[in-house]
Amino acid sequence: MPESRPAYYVTTPIYYVNDRPHIGHAYCTILADVLRRYHSMFGCETFFLTGVDEHGQKVEEAAKKRGLTPQQHCDEMQAHFRDLWPTLDISNDDFIRTTEPRHERVVKQALQQLFDSGDIYKGEYEGFYSQRVEKFFTEDELIDGKCPETGGEVQRIVEANYFFRMSRYQQRLIDHINANPDFIRPESRKNEVLGFLRKPLQDLCISRPKSRLSWGIELPFDSDYVTYVWFDALLNYVSVIGLFHDDPRFRKWWAVSTHLIGKDILTTHSVYWTTMLFALGLDMPRHIIAHGWWLVDNTKMSKSLGNVINPLAMRDKYGVDSLRYFLMREMVVGLDSDFSEESFLKRHNFELANDLGNLANRLVGFAAKQMGGVIPAPGTGSGHAADAEVMAMAAELPARVRGHVESLRVETAIETVMNFVRRLNRYVAETEPFKVIKTDPAAAGGAVYIALEGLRIALNLLWPVMPKKVENLLGALGGNSVVGYFDDLKWGGLVPGTALNLPEPPFPRFELPEFETRPAEAPAKADKAVADRANAAGGAKAEKAAGSQPSDGSSGAVASEHATFDDFLKIKLLVGTVLTAEPVPGSDKLLKLSVDLGEPAPRQIVAGIGDRFPVEKVPGSQVTVVANLKPRKVFGIMSEGMILAATDENGLSLIAPSGTPRKPGTRVG
Ligand code: ME8
Ligand code: MG
Repeated sequence: MPESRPAYYVTTPIYYVNDRPHIGHAYCTILADVLRRYHSMFGCETFFLTGVDEHGQKVEEAAKKRGLTPQQHCDEMQAHFRDLWPTLDISNDDFIRTTEPRHERVVKQALQQLFDSGDIYKGEYEGFYSQRVEKFFTEDELIDGKCPETGGEVQRIVEANYFFRMSRYQQRLIDHINANPDFIRPESRKNEVLGFLRKPLQDLCISRPKSRLSWGIELPFDSDYVTYVWFDALLNYVSVIGLFHDDPRFRKWWAVSTHLIGKDILTTHSVYWTTMLFALGLDMPRHIIAHGWWLVDNTKMSKSLGNVINPLAMRDKYGVDSLRYFLMREMVVGLDSDFSEESFLKRHNFELANDLGNLANRLVGFAAKQMGGVIPAPGTGSGHAADAEVMAMAAELPARVRGHVESLRVETAIETVMNFVRRLNRYVAETEPFKVIKTDPAAAGGAVYIALEGLRIALNLLWPVMPKKVENLLGALGGNSVVGYFDDLKWGGLVPGTALNLPEPPFPRFELPEFETRPAEAPAKADKAVADRANAAGGAKAEKAAGSQPSDGSSGAVASEHATFDDFLKIKLLVGTVLTAEPVPGSDKLLKLSVDLGEPAPRQIVAGIGDRFPVEKVPGSQVTVVANLKPRKVFGIMSEGMILAATDENGLSLIAPSGTPRKPGTRVG
């Protein structure tokens, strides 16, 4: 590759050593890994940084409780993170601990520079300190005298301290955010930061007297103080890549930096960090991307509730590739998701075991029996019109996947590949090589070649998500390995005559616990009821038909045959554009759609149209959405609206604006 190839630098938060890694930490680090791997395949030179945050009061106290020095405590705790990542196939290039000299040196130099330039000054501090979040609050930020973020106790503190002139950079920050619409993503988080910046920014207290806290980096200009843990921690992103000591290296990576963070640390990154960078005369990071929460039963994970999901347990139970697949496939970057083993197992069984695993198994098993165990010759294909369609889909797939990844729609990128995998399964059903072999072996071989080659392309595109499994499977397909670059993913990579070798099913199905029976039984009824209604498709009806009680009282007996005009106005009908559609595992009628309604994030809507409308035709369609229905779970999946459709004995039509497409979010009425 030429010297001038593009670069990509991705970071995760550096996690507090006090916690054991849970599924939230694993998610963010896997997301960084997946983005790193995709960008390598796009041709970028990449650098991926993660690490741990070791200073601060929480660490000092935890160490004291255990009778250890803070350093001993950190040395032990950091290993929980450092050692976990390789077992989740995470390929970070570096792992920073904030107690390392290479980092402390940079923090001290930054502090000195800001002190010399007058951006750090000494003043009197009065504030309320929350130890849980290691932050100070003003009196009016407190809620009932408690920490506004955790509801926990705060301590009132008055003392001499050093301050960073954050207020000086407020307008520059606002201007930068406005001039760079993709700087803070998603849009809703950008708006949150702009909202925060509507009030005047205070200066930031960046010191702690050693009398109160000694576990930190000493201020280079006053040895009675250490620096605030956030001032220290944020600098990890630049200390590792060479700030102050390797300028070319620093410039190269800093210009292409992406910070992945959770929404909990949006302010520290979008306001503290950016103004620190302004003061240091450094550029802004390229992107700050805030992801949402993994919830458990729609509540936050917490130690006290005992609902913390341990990534090690998930990995051991289901395998690292299924875990990575689930986390990436289930969550839309920026939105919250519910973690449940039920949805995990459904994705594993229906998408990995059925759609992907069975395709590989059937093809290799068939070739082993009927084609001498080798990749057949492509010949002139199967003679079926679907050949050209499959090849055309395969040709455009890399660019589509790349587009989705670059706009952070990782789940859509995966779904795009899986739709293709489902197309390949249908292709095999259409071309019937199992039958055709008896009359026309060349055509049967052509069909198997096309299906296998399609599978090879799909697998390559899934490598960033499931590196190990994909490498093994590609090895089984005639000893292929992962292509380095999307640009090399051209049709015809499989070499006829090479041996196929798939000793066991790649994704064994897991037994579903008691919820297994639900998708098999209830849906049939629910779906029939939905279809019977014949004119609408959507969450509320499917669930009602499944026998549950209407929960909001709105669907009781109809009182009068006339609706008043006010009744009608209560219903908010909006034009939407469907972004993605996928079958709901276990149901042949329900589709899960993501629909753009012109809102910051797309809506998820479950619609009973899958049996009458080909799933691949749904994305891109305009629809009319009942947008203010109370969200309901259908089949365990949250549905945030209803799609209008008209059905007669000849089929189903989606109700959409005629003629020119209308902007998503346009009101209907
Ligand atoms: O805040 N769902 O560290 P931290 C998804 N040391 N992600 C979650 C999550 C959940 N339920 N819980 C945590 C710190 N995370 C500081 C960062 S950076 C210079 C300093 C993830 O150990 C999410 O990415 O509390 C969140 O931002 C991060 O863990 C916080 O980790
Ligand atoms: Mg935290």
